[in-house]
Amino acid sequence: MFVIKNKQILANDIKRIDVHAPHIAKKIQPGQFVSVCPQEGDERIPLTVVEADQIKGTIALIFQEIGETTKHFGAIPINESVFSILGPLGTPAKIEKKGTVVCIATGIGAAQILPICRAFRKAGNKVIGIVGAKTKRTLLLEAQMRLSCNKIFITTNDGSWERRGVVTDALKDMIQKQEVDLVYAIGSAEMMQAVCLLTQTKNIPTRVALNPMMVDCMGMCGSCRVKIGEEILLACVDGPEFDGHKVDFNHFNIRVNAFKGIEEWHNRSSQPNPKNDEPKTFRKFLSGILRE
Ligand code: FES
Repeated sequence: MFVIKNKQILANDIKRIDVHAPHIAKKIQPGQFVSVCPQEGDERIPLTVVEADQIKGTIALIFQEIGETTKHFGAIPINESVFSILGPLGTPAKIEKKGTVVCIATGIGAAQILPICRAFRKAGNKVIGIVGAKTKRTLLLEAQMRLSCNKIFITTNDGSWERRGVVTDALKDMIQKQEVDLVYAIGSAEMMQAVCLLTQTKNIPTRVALNPMMVDCMGMCGSCRVKIGEEILLACVDGPEFDGHKVDFNHFNIRVNAFKGIEEWHNRSSQPNPKNDEPKTFRKFLSGILRE
């Protein structure tokens, strides 16, 4: 069960891993995710399923090795097993025929937006992708995005590939020149907030996929709570997709930063590492409760 079938290094610290998980491959829908526990005692990490192959029974996961747990996952060799994978989790993305849909992603968000682009295109929409990266070397999944969208625009912060600048520069130009029926954004909180501010000026419906820290991923711990309009919702069960114009990004930023210290603590390399059985999950859970 959960045997790793293939591994690929996509960029510096970004890997794609294909895992045998036939029951998930059969049921997963765009926008949903799985919770991966690489080794016994590890915390769980939520990862979007980028592709599912029902014939081979595999799911493809793309992730950045930024902490101890993602490094454990990245180190498991081909033909060895992942301790556990739970899913599909979350609410599927709302895929409808809208007309022109602009899908925007930065960084690892490109992996999350890819299945959304494919689904909107399959539903008969004209899909325009805007993908941003710091440099050409860190740009992810360009070829796959070109195949999945009718057209794509690329921005790099340093101008090393296509347009110099950020994704919102390209979006700003686009919404001045043409009708856009829906915008979908996945990336940093700053980027998603900037996209929502832009689209609000033109009343373009906008959806975002929020990625707060998750602990159990099943709606029980409250770590992933987000403020949507006047409601407090859970990203792991009510999301991760939400109406971008209703998201309280100030609250979201506070929630995301609430775990920063703990992540940094986990990632320290000069200090003795905690044993695998240290209750990391419990500490994350407490932090989620204590910090608003
Ligand atoms: Fe969503 Fe626990 S991670 S409630």
